[in-house]
Amino acid sequence: MCGIVGYVGAQQAAPILVEGLTRLEHRGYDSAGVAVLAGSGSTTAIKVAKRAGRVRDLAEALPKRFAGRVGVGHTRWATHGPANDVNAHPHTDAPAHHARVAVVHNGIIDNAAALRHRLTEAGVELASDTDTEVLAHLVARSSADTLEGKVSEALAAIEGTYGIAVVHTDFPDRIVAARNGSPLIIGVGEREMFVASDLAAIVRHTTTVAHLDDGEIASLTATGFTTYRQDLTSTAKTATVLDVDPASYDAGEHESFMRKEMLEQPAAAERVLRGRLDERFGTAHLGGLNMEPREIRAIRRVKILGCGSAYYVGQMGAGLVEELARIPADAEAASEFRYRNPIIEPDTLYVAVSQSGETIDTLLAVQEIRRKGGRVIGLVNVVGSAIARECDGGIYLHAGPEVAVASTKALTNMFLGFALLALQLGRVRDLSIADGRRLIAGLSRLPGQIEEVLAQEDALAALAGRLAEAESLFFVGRVRGYPVAREGAQKFKEISYRHAEAYQTSELKHGPLALICEAVPTVAIVPDDELADRNVAALHEIAARRGPLVVVTHDGVVLGDLDASGGVERVVVPRNERELDPILLTVPLQLLAYHAARRLGHDIDKPRNLAKSVTVE
Ligand code: G6P
Repeated sequence: MCGIVGYVGAQQAAPILVEGLTRLEHRGYDSAGVAVLAGSGSTTAIKVAKRAGRVRDLAEALPKRFAGRVGVGHTRWATHGPANDVNAHPHTDAPAHHARVAVVHNGIIDNAAALRHRLTEAGVELASDTDTEVLAHLVARSSADTLEGKVSEALAAIEGTYGIAVVHTDFPDRIVAARNGSPLIIGVGEREMFVASDLAAIVRHTTTVAHLDDGEIASLTATGFTTYRQDLTSTAKTATVLDVDPASYDAGEHESFMRKEMLEQPAAAERVLRGRLDERFGTAHLGGLNMEPREIRAIRRVKILGCGSAYYVGQMGAGLVEELARIPADAEAASEFRYRNPIIEPDTLYVAVSQSGETIDTLLAVQEIRRKGGRVIGLVNVVGSAIARECDGGIYLHAGPEVAVASTKALTNMFLGFALLALQLGRVRDLSIADGRRLIAGLSRLPGQIEEVLAQEDALAALAGRLAEAESLFFVGRVRGYPVAREGAQKFKEISYRHAEAYQTSELKHGPLALICEAVPTVAIVPDDELADRNVAALHEIAARRGPLVVVTHDGVVLGDLDASGGVERVVVPRNERELDPILLTVPLQLLAYHAARRLGHDIDKPRNLAKSVTVE
């Protein structure tokens, strides 16, 4: 999704903005641009450079003379109007040399058509097809005598979501930013200030930040920042120092962030478990849940909401909650939930799961539940993010920054977060202390076992090379294995661009078997559990149609004459407690997807058409 970065200070803004935009590339975008305030005093002018394509194309095209110590930059993900040079941000109120205002904007202005019409009637010539351009004109036409006032007035006229940053030639010492639905943070440096939609853009300069809330406006000069409500009364926000290592935002010696993040999984898994396992009582301690045992006992249902991979891991989480806590649980795509006028029950525990904590569909689902009086907890990775702040309590995932679009370590920690939650809920209810201890021992073994799966990378890479040749694949599993298959198919399709479809193994014969042939491989999830024999029977049906098979399984599962038939490849993962199987079965699927995409020569961290955080509906 679109990215914003802004700078005000003593340094040249353009290089900082361009570097910041490079750090936002993973969010997904199709054009990029920067604007700086050049000159000084009454001769201040706006310079703009923007174009469709990559940030490096923009950097190469920057004019030699592009000096200025205040500026804003943007990566655009097209919504209103195609991705071209004109529609790229920043947008101005006039052609660059006459412009007084430049605006960058994330989000969508819902009443843009009406506002464009009104401006055109008033004689304004709009240059682009975008909703954002109206903001530049509204700010320029405001009669308020401060930039904060002009921005506030402009915002009062618009409906929709936004994170914006605005510069104005009459106020050359500042940037004014505002948020409603699209994340924005302010970074505090040494006599310099930053604004960005994502910490990644500014983390090399500062980790002292303030998160803007919806409805807030911020004014930044080189020496400080002030925050206001939209009516310009003060919110007096102060900055805090985040405990993050800027180096974790670099791929270092790794060829991609996805590979780096896959390899970080054992360490990330240890972090989410650390200090949360209670051997003595066979339970988990989740301080952030904010729930009394009495309240836990009153829960009649658990409803998990997330999008994409977070939704699939939510389905794994629902399985854990049902198995360990014996509470009916299910997961639903947050993007759908809100639109079917959901019944919010007082004795349902709602769980929002999100890596970024900014996914708009998940955030809006949380707001809908809370509006109707429901209780929501969050499983969120990014500390201080919108979903984390909006929930009644939650579990931070401590996976560290995840940059690649395809979620790996955050997903693993989401699973572990659910295991901890299910354990704690279970132990307040019917799970025995012996079972609690059994699971604690299993959880403690997991980081090392993830490492063992990662060590199979070479064999998985060879296998992936063969799978990459197929235009279309199935991923199948049952019960605990089904969400694993869904997540495996998701990973495979999002980075290899092959058609990968997940199915319940049991449903194959009710339709998809018609497609099975030599050209359509199936990746089958067959843990050594109570369904293993039935799973193997289904594999025979695939083999009988000459469908190539990759079986992700445990040692000891008897595939019978399939093993001898030649067309079957086995991927063996370590055994743990059955309830925890899903995550160890998921890790090899990450490596399969990764190596298939690599074989096909794709840009793994920035898959086409996808964004890391989807902050527009
Ligand atoms: C996007 C990403 C997915 C991710 C989903 C949810 O669609 O492309 O990889 O799983 O958003 O993101 P979240 O930050 O809420 O976990």
